[in-house]
Amino acid sequence: MNEFLHGGDYNPDQWLKRPEILEEDIRLMKKAGVNEVSLGIFSWAMYEPEEDVYQFSWMDKIMDAMYENGIKVILATPSAARPAWMVKKYPEIMRVNEKRERLLYGDRENYCCSSEIYREKVKKIDGMIASRYAKHPALIMWHLSNEMYGECHCEKCQNKFREWLKKKYKTLENLNEQYNSAFWSHTFYSWDEIESPSSIGDQAVHGLALDFSRFYSELNIDFLEMEKKEIRKYCKHTPITTNMLSLDCGIDYSDLGKILDVTSWDSYPLWHCGKDKTSEWKEAVKASFHYDYCRSLKKQPFYLMESTPSNTNWAAVCKLKRPGMHLLSSMQAIASGSDSVLYFQWRQGKGGYEKFHGAVVGHSGSEDTRVFRDVCQVGDELKKIAEIKGAGTISKVAIIFDWPNLRALKGIKGLKNNKKDFVEALQEYYEALIKNYVNVDIISQRDDFSEYQLIVAPMLYLFEKDTDKRIKAYIENGGNFVLGVFSGIVNENDLAFECFPPYGLQDVFGLCVEETDALCEDEFNEVTYKDRTYHATDYCDLIRNQDATVVAEYGQDFYKGMPVVTKHTWGKGTAVYIGSRMNEEFLYEFLHDMIQEVGIERICDTPYISDIMVKQREKKGIKYTFLMNFSTEQRVIEVEHQQYVLGCYEYKIITTK
Ligand code: GLA
Ligand code: ZN
Repeated sequence: MNEFLHGGDYNPDQWLKRPEILEEDIRLMKKAGVNEVSLGIFSWAMYEPEEDVYQFSWMDKIMDAMYENGIKVILATPSAARPAWMVKKYPEIMRVNEKRERLLYGDRENYCCSSEIYREKVKKIDGMIASRYAKHPALIMWHLSNEMYGECHCEKCQNKFREWLKKKYKTLENLNEQYNSAFWSHTFYSWDEIESPSSIGDQAVHGLALDFSRFYSELNIDFLEMEKKEIRKYCKHTPITTNMLSLDCGIDYSDLGKILDVTSWDSYPLWHCGKDKTSEWKEAVKASFHYDYCRSLKKQPFYLMESTPSNTNWAAVCKLKRPGMHLLSSMQAIASGSDSVLYFQWRQGKGGYEKFHGAVVGHSGSEDTRVFRDVCQVGDELKKIAEIKGAGTISKVAIIFDWPNLRALKGIKGLKNNKKDFVEALQEYYEALIKNYVNVDIISQRDDFSEYQLIVAPMLYLFEKDTDKRIKAYIENGGNFVLGVFSGIVNENDLAFECFPPYGLQDVFGLCVEETDALCEDEFNEVTYKDRTYHATDYCDLIRNQDATVVAEYGQDFYKGMPVVTKHTWGKGTAVYIGSRMNEEFLYEFLHDMIQEVGIERICDTPYISDIMVKQREKKGIKYTFLMNFSTEQRVIEVEHQQYVLGCYEYKIITTK
């Protein structure tokens, strides 16, 4: 397939009694340059109206019609939602929430991953779908379930969790030790006393809470693997994906990525909702971070599985995309390594939860709409740039985002309790790097570090086994590592190391941290770097310097004169410590200097032009540089001695050999 995919979720189950709608949809799809539809995501009730009574002929017709018209199909397994009869007969397939309430029929992505009956039912329907459509010429990809997330706290899941703990800790003594459970009378004397965290029970044994997150992440992945196996019985090669949705949905995506052939992401930025109506830069940075994360999971192109052609229906304010934003935001995904622009949804349903969610074809059914024209424009553009499809992304810079670290930081009491802002801290560093016009990968602490010239790890509070040694080896061999405030404090069970942080790395960084201060909102400590003043905010590590070079010091408070940013040469590399959440301007300047010192080749060698994002893909020695203006105002950027003028929400691609 040598074209970008353009299309998205299509739920024709709603119009089966009106075949003229399918006909009309196909006509409109062709007009809009749509070459793909994602089918069957929530179709279980249509496939199996009664237990073990199946009907597929409706889907046969749709699949055939798509094929006859040159439209490819991504076919889903329908496990995210189920028929009402099933829940009535087997209520245990539904989840129990953390308050120990069993959910009723309805909604979606809310089943118990331990329910044997549900597993059997899913296997059976998946097998029937896979065997029926494996060889269908329209089929190009399998879509497992939908936006899998969350946890179940039923007795079955609790028992499985206890088994998981037995495997991990072997003895209760060991478990009690690792949970430091002697505190607050939390000692467990029998495995069946252990309960998953609950707001009406316990959330204070942090190691246990973290273990439950890990356990459920594994169980979610195990469920998807089961579905994958069922498909593979009948279909050996068609790629399998599942749509991912957020940094914290209860699944460690770095593990999930491993079982998928390709990764895919659902992206719904809240465009035009910020205070500054002339700039969508901040929202663009967040979207970009997600795309880079999804791509980095397999270090290969990913798919934008869902996006809205206009508005969502669930945001606090469901804004329309302003003219130009649909094309620009679609191209942003492509620039970040996506091989598709897909939507939720093709045609708006006239009833139900999502009747006001944006769609390519609205309730009127008209093609004479702004949204339809916007979609046609994306279709045209994707055809024009088809040669870029499959191009890779070369990044010499990485940021560590680690899901267990995020979960652990969320759980702890301390710092600023209602505002830990780990994700925000990550995105601040990310933004500073993106502003320096380099491609960035987002990796976990378990990933291979060796291919990067610079790695940044903001607030890496939790060090898994050997993380310290791996960072040390990376730096020793010539790597450049930036470690942020409040790092290297606890082990993988959220148990504090009995030393000054950063654990195992005091010699490498030439320092240790004695205390960490938390600042109130609007409070800051002035820091001078190269004769300019910047702000240290939120958290301030009080550093005890051993033999690091002090780059910047705190300018105020009782720790005035103490180092806040340091550098230390170690082996062939450099260990940098940034002991506070430094403001945007500092991060940009400091990382700019580092990128230069380290000799990282930037995509373009210009200072940051406000609101202009630059990303690059590469294929067969050809570089495709995307320049994207997220401002309503005109901007000019110079790339390789040539000036490019970009109007409101405009983008350009520069091709170089
Ligand atoms: C998610 C779901 C879709 C749809 C969209 C609406 O991404 O996967 O089924 O509900 O949200 O934004
Ligand atoms: Zn359960």
